[in-house]
Amino acid sequence: MSGKKSLWSDLHKSLFEKNSLILTVGVLVTVSIGGIVEIAPLFYLDSTIEEVDGMRPYTPLEQLGRDIYIREGCYNCHSQMVRPLRDEVERYGHYSLAAESMYDHPFQWGSKRTGPDLARVGGKYSDEWHRDHMRRPQSVVPESIMPAYGFLETSELAFDNVEANLRALRTVGVPYDDTMLASAVSDIETQLDPFADDYDGFQARYPGAVMREFDGNPDQVTELDALIAYLQVLGTMVDFSTYEAEADENLR
Ligand code: HEC
Repeated sequence: MSGKKSLWSDLHKSLFEKNSLILTVGVLVTVSIGGIVEIAPLFYLDSTIEEVDGMRPYTPLEQLGRDIYIREGCYNCHSQMVRPLRDEVERYGHYSLAAESMYDHPFQWGSKRTGPDLARVGGKYSDEWHRDHMRRPQSVVPESIMPAYGFLETSELAFDNVEANLRALRTVGVPYDDTMLASAVSDIETQLDPFADDYDGFQARYPGAVMREFDGNPDQVTELDALIAYLQVLGTMVDFSTYEAEADENLR
């Protein structure tokens, strides 16, 4: 043992430590072994995102709500990623999965939390709560410093281009099929009407999507309709009562 050890340290002293070029080559060889082990699998794996049941593309209305979220800069104060840390999981719910933002282009993980994380805000409050909160946050959370977005309630939602919007997302991998594109415009109004004629078709395209009049005003399709539809779907697609039982052993 000791013989071997001194042979190696002799070699190290006489070769590597006396010749900086050989030392550099040695360092490069060592580091690239680590690099290859990490990078090589990415060349043959189709996806590094684990598939999870329940994930579906956003409905056209939710997608436009998401665009408003980005336009208004909500991400400047809100993150959308629950980290796998005990305090976060106790406050917000199950930590976020990669699959949950697989249809987000660009993702909204964020890096600033002036307000709370919104990754699981869907279903936490009623639509009325969101309406009041957007009109005047202090009416429901007296100490809130969030700005008001009351104008969304009266600004009409522009959705003539929604088909092109979904088509663009399809080119980056969101699985919108031809029927989804063809019915994109009508699906906006369908989602806002729980008694819509195309109820079954809509549910087949977007399983489990909530259909109702989000801003409480059936006379107009507003930006608030879209934003609330988006907020109410956040974090609700994956059913965590069944997910935990079958998969992720890593973090328990
Ligand atoms: C200047 C920072 C700021 C901006 C910008 C902002 N918020 Fe907030 N938001 C807050 C703060 C602070 C709270 C916590 C107090 C409250 O509930 O109002 C909050 C709370 C919320 C909540 C309730 C979260 C919960 O779990 O209780 C929602 C939903 C929300 N914001 C949505 C939005 C949306 C949508 C936008 C963009 C239209 C937005 N916020 C923009 C600061 C901000």
